[in-house]
Amino acid sequence: MLAGKRILLIVGGGIAAFKSLDLIRRLRERGATVTPVLTKASEEFVTPLSTSALAGQKVYRDLFDLTDEAEMGHIELSRAANLVVVAPATADLMAKMTAGLANDLASTLLMATDKRVLIAPAMNVRMWEHPATQRNLATLQGDGILTVGPDVGDMACGEHGPGRMSEPLAIVDAVEAALADGPLKGKHVLVTSGPTHEPIDPVRYIANRSSGAQGTAIARSLAALGADVTFITGPADVSPPSGVKVVKVQTAREMKDAVDAALPADAAVFAAAVADWRVENASGSKMKKDGSGKAPALEFAENPDILAGVSQLKKGRPKLVVGFAAETDDVEANATAKRKRKGCDWIVANDVSPETGIMGGSENAVSVISDQGTEVWPRLSKDQVAAKLAKRIAGALA
Ligand SMILES: Cc1cc2nc3c(=O)[nH]c(=O)nc-3n(C[C@H](O)[C@H](O)[C@H](O)COP(=O)(O)O)c2cc1C
Repeated sequence: MLAGKRILLIVGGGIAAFKSLDLIRRLRERGATVTPVLTKASEEFVTPLSTSALAGQKVYRDLFDLTDEAEMGHIELSRAANLVVVAPATADLMAKMTAGLANDLASTLLMATDKRVLIAPAMNVRMWEHPATQRNLATLQGDGILTVGPDVGDMACGEHGPGRMSEPLAIVDAVEAALADGPLKGKHVLVTSGPTHEPIDPVRYIANRSSGAQGTAIARSLAALGADVTFITGPADVSPPSGVKVVKVQTAREMKDAVDAALPADAAVFAAAVADWRVENASGSKMKKDGSGKAPALEFAENPDILAGVSQLKKGRPKLVVGFAAETDDVEANATAKRKRKGCDWIVANDVSPETGIMGGSENAVSVISDQGTEVWPRLSKDQVAAKLAKRIAGALA
């Protein structure tokens, strides 16, 4: 429910702007007050009159409208809300946000706000996949901008692929997650997820079968309980959850740097399958067969142990550090030993032998090992494991 919550909704000039009218309706159904802001381009797609009628509010359109400044200045407008939502977020608005431009009302509000910002990108698939948009997305996620979508599907322009704005109800869910008043409100929780890629040369790498599904589900569940989540992910198969700060990395060393930069945290959950070793003699250019029939010899160096490093911090250690142990033999014994060796509080142990179908699958069967002993959980969906773990974390931080 969003009773009493104020949403500043910036509507960008995209074909999906018509869906924002439904979004206004859905947000209001849940009790939110919606203050709409139209960009000049968006008025080509929706009218101020229909937007205002659905919002039951004045529509803001112009930075230099003196009446508006007298009634409510742009700074106040940007801060009176509990959350700023940009839907549709055009390629243009994303670029402006990345660059820090403030040359119209929408972009100025986005620069001036002290509230969290959630964007729902929507654009043609080529525009979405353009390196500039992908660069901007990474920067915005790194800045803590929350994202929802886009979805994959048929587009108004006749093409198919990613770029469709998320459906209004999915955006409402992301708004609710961003404003959640759960038991973890005010707590910062760090979650790592996915595999790491360790380069052999510019085109080859060593990876593992982690899909990132479990870590993603945990981050989503923690956010749903109100946590302020920093989600540090390797190249995963699944999209990051909405409503969290996303930091994308490739290698174990990049993941360590991202974790260090994200601290302090109240709790840290290390669900990523981090490579133990990296190729020490990785080549700066593509390795080629030289006709001698001799294969290259790869030399390995040990990667930093992120879990042990954070668990053993003398200063600024999170109150709760949770590690994961993916084992194929003697799961409980190995995981119990790992907890001691690393110095973390809990180990979530799972059997990733191929016959379990866990690695890359949708279910998980875990045991949670702590100083209280071992708790064996039944086989559950990864979402259910995540929800149960998030609840346990909330209990430990209470
Ligand atoms: C028919 C039409 C549809 C458009 N749809 C989109 C869209 O879905 N996403 C997008 O990023 N830009 C779209 N554009 C381009 C934007 O309208 C244009 O970049 C504009 O400058 C965006 O302004 P704004 O970001 O201030 O709203 C479309 C343009 C036209 C003419």
